[in-house]
Amino acid sequence: MSSSGYARPGSNGRRNKAGRFLGPIIVFFRGFLEHPRMVGSVIPSSHITIEAMLERVDWQNCRLFVEYGPGVGTFCPHILDRLPADGKLLAIDTNPRFIDYLRSTIDDERFHAVLGSAADVQEHVERLGFDRADCVLSGLPISTLPDGEAEKIVAATHEVLREGGSFLTYQLRPAARTLTRQNFAHVETDFVLRNIPPYLLTWGWKKAKPAVAG
Ligand SMILES: C[S@@+](CC[C@H](N)C(=O)[O-])C[C@H]1O[C@@H](n2cnc3c(N)ncnc32)[C@H](O)[C@@H]1O
Repeated sequence: MSSSGYARPGSNGRRNKAGRFLGPIIVFFRGFLEHPRMVGSVIPSSHITIEAMLERVDWQNCRLFVEYGPGVGTFCPHILDRLPADGKLLAIDTNPRFIDYLRSTIDDERFHAVLGSAADVQEHVERLGFDRADCVLSGLPISTLPDGEAEKIVAATHEVLREGGSFLTYQLRPAARTLTRQNFAHVETDFVLRNIPPYLLTWGWKKAKPAVAG
């Protein structure tokens, strides 16, 4: 790990031997046993969820992609596969076990894993040298977070996104969709049944500011 607390630069988004050997499912399940309310799910998301979620991202204009609650990095290699060569993926998780695992298994100079809360996203984005993010994907268990935390995180997300930027969530319960509708101008939803549990997918876009009349 570098002195900045971010992941060491590497060469690509593939998992190295340690990642394949340790087994992400075991690491994820141990994380769930230690913090069931914070992790919120016993197994990582399915491939179908990942493909559906990432399909609506404007990859061409994505320079900073932020992921909340990456866990063992189920989405990370798929994000890195789609991200432009000069883009960055900032992954924020409160669980040190998951952050250590991500740092030791994902070897890509565009990848930065940070131990911290999504509520402090603006600070993490600025530390990486950006003002705004283009896309934020949340894997947080929105409905089981401590009281008021989800509201705070979604408001901070709206603030950190550039105009036209998007906020993506996948959840069993509708709380994330409700908060997205309250904060974002344009919202789309879908369902994925082939996931344990089945997920409600929500995309919210931050409205572009209207041109100022001259
Ligand atoms: C359901 S797991 C998501 C795992 C993974 N994204 C997936 O799709 O398989 C939820 C994750 O959110 C993390 N988490 C919970 N509260 C958080 C917060 N306030 N900020 C950042 N991460 C948080 C947990 O540590 C856990 O890794």
